Amino acid sequence: MEEALQKLKELKLRRHSGPSEDEEDDDVTDRYATENNHHRQEYDDSHDGDNKASDRDGAQYEESYRSNKERHSLVQQRGEENKQSNERRLTIHDFDFLSTLGTGTFGRVRLVKFKHDPTCEPMALKMLKKTEIIRLKQVDHVRSEKKILETIHHPFIVELKGTFQTESHVFMLLDYACGGELFSLLRREGRFSNDVGLFFASEIVLAFEYLHSKDIAYRDLKPENLLVDKDGHCRITDFGFAKIVKDKTFTLCGTPEYLAPEIIQSKGHNKHVDWWALGVLIFEMLAGYPPFYDDNPLGIYQKILDGYYEFPPYIESKARDLIKAFLTADKSIRLG
Ligand SMILES: Nc1ncnc2c1ncn2[C@@H]1O[C@H](COP(=O)(O)OP(=O)(O)O)[C@@H](O)[C@H]1O
Ligand SMILES: [Mg+2]
Repeated sequence: MEEALQKLKELKLRRHSGPSEDEEDDDVTDRYATENNHHRQEYDDSHDGDNKASDRDGAQYEESYRSNKERHSLVQQRGEENKQSNERRLTIHDFDFLSTLGTGTFGRVRLVKFKHDPTCEPMALKMLKKTEIIRLKQVDHVRSEKKILETIHHPFIVELKGTFQTESHVFMLLDYACGGELFSLLRREGRFSNDVGLFFASEIVLAFEYLHSKDIAYRDLKPENLLVDKDGHCRITDFGFAKIVKDKTFTLCGTPEYLAPEIIQSKGHNKHVDWWALGVLIFEMLAGYPPFYDDNPLGIYQKILDGYYEFPPYIESKARDLIKAFLTADKSIRLG
């Protein structure tokens, strides 16, 4: 248990993410420019500064792209090219940087626009700092996040458009889910009605069935990793802990409130942990707080292992049955 706690401390204990005051990441564009042998004297630590530098550095691309007839598919096209060859790769200079959408474990996620195509929809650029990835010993997880996202196409899962890297960062270009995190929506509303909870839960069931059919265990379900798209549908994001699991895996990962008992016990786990987490999520959506809660992660683990939680009176009996069926410690009879 102590060992489990220590390992989990090194991982992602964040429950909420959002634009941060931390300016550390803003200087990355300075480094991108340096990496391309440009001096950024005009850089003023602002987003405008980012754009000025990338405007200039990206000018070389303008000519060739203006003549391209299929402008709308430029990003997809270059994403594909990135996969196939080293030529005409996406670079940081292909984008105008807009707002910060969220902060993750390894850096920010920024809203960007592809500067060579004004008609192109804005996208989300996840920027992962290599020194952080290494410090947190997450190199394999980031590799697997990229590899898995490249194989996934599902309406309720965020789509990876392309990847590229600099000396200091790895970048993942994703489609933008403009409705923000389900977490923010839930905290704003307090709790969801049965219908709203059922709607999101059903979409997650479909996404999990798809992932599990490919032997992918997602392993990080929580409202922070569920985004809402422009049509109000759910988009699962953050595949940092997703893994192809045919039998069992032993890596301790996830978020304390959402961990299945078999993860805490280090018994070996597989995709069944996602169905447990769905039980936690449905409870949290309908109650407004998670079923196993304590100020201290150790207290949370103890409650999960004891299987102790109480329903607030306003959760209906059918919803209770569903939650109980997912929150079954014995994974051989757990719903899923
Ligand atoms: N495609 C996207 N559209 C909109 N916001 C996003 C998108 N991807 C990530 N975000 C925001 O950035 C946050 C961090 O991204 P995430 O992939 O979860 O990083 P981490 O792996 O570090 O947790 C998310 O919780 C969300 O608020
Ligand atoms: Mg996340």
